Amino acid sequence: MNSIVQNATTTLSLVVRQITLQAQGINSYELVDPAGKALPVFTAGAHLDLHLSNGLIRQYSLSNAPTDRYRYVIGVLKDPNGSGGSAAVHQLTVGDVVEVSVPRNNFKLAAHARKVILLAGGIGVTPMKAMLHELELSAIEYELYYCCKGPEFAAFKDEFEPRASAGNVHLHFDGGDPRNGLNITALLEEAQDSCHVYYCGPGGFMEACRKAAAHWPAGTVHFEHFKAPTPVSTPVSADAVEGFVAQIASTGQQLFVRPEQNLAQVLQDAGLPLETSCQSGLCGTCKVRYLSGDVDHQDYILDDSEKAEYLTACVSKAKGGVLVLDL
Ligand code: FES
Repeated sequence: MNSIVQNATTTLSLVVRQITLQAQGINSYELVDPAGKALPVFTAGAHLDLHLSNGLIRQYSLSNAPTDRYRYVIGVLKDPNGSGGSAAVHQLTVGDVVEVSVPRNNFKLAAHARKVILLAGGIGVTPMKAMLHELELSAIEYELYYCCKGPEFAAFKDEFEPRASAGNVHLHFDGGDPRNGLNITALLEEAQDSCHVYYCGPGGFMEACRKAAAHWPAGTVHFEHFKAPTPVSTPVSADAVEGFVAQIASTGQQLFVRPEQNLAQVLQDAGLPLETSCQSGLCGTCKVRYLSGDVDHQDYILDDSEKAEYLTACVSKAKGGVLVLDL
């Protein structure tokens, strides 16, 4: 299948119906159709691309129950050191119209899990909240561990507190001191039968989860970055210095990609309708199937089985030679 068709997106114009201060620096935004129509369905873990007034496109996870057919709710932390995305969202007021993509999901709940452990750091709780709703509906056993500095930084507390009393949700406050952080290593020490782990949070939290879950069986650990981690420099091969050829399978067209070029941009410049969004290997918008080639994957979303078939054109390249794309 041609993955450009698969990635084609529809933009929706939605109205901000309600803004709620959820925690210090965190607002939730309820987006609805201006005519009150039902919205495209989504599953827990999905995100929207918001096309912001300053020209930026940013991804925000949906936090409400997927059974909500008439609203999308996102939670946004204002990052004073960010690139302007969250600041633009925090300028929205009730009644504003926002252009958003249809929901896309790179962080789905696995089918047939007996139990699910959700680990959230800070604003990484937003997809976990949607997951919690979906798991409750499916009557699947779950535990949510939500880590943040203190109660004043915990979003969606009104919904979490009753579940904390019931023992499903564990709020962990570290006072801003990593030494008081949740003992994730102990929590994940034993890989449980038919249990899946999901985690999302800031860089240090992601790394702690990754290490703690390293011994869990393949396919049972799932994660989503909301920010690209600091890149680790890797040795550059001679071929990478020379660039590579991207070949379009359907037409045989060959495009040369110089080392400093971005494959997605080269494809777009050649008139191929490839969509991009995050430009950071985080969202999957630019995912393309490839038929042959030695790919240097630089994304943060594809798992090993997906990498055998797909690449993200905004950040990934061939290590040299010819890369044949299923376009
Ligand atoms: S545009 Fe988001 S992964 Fe490429």
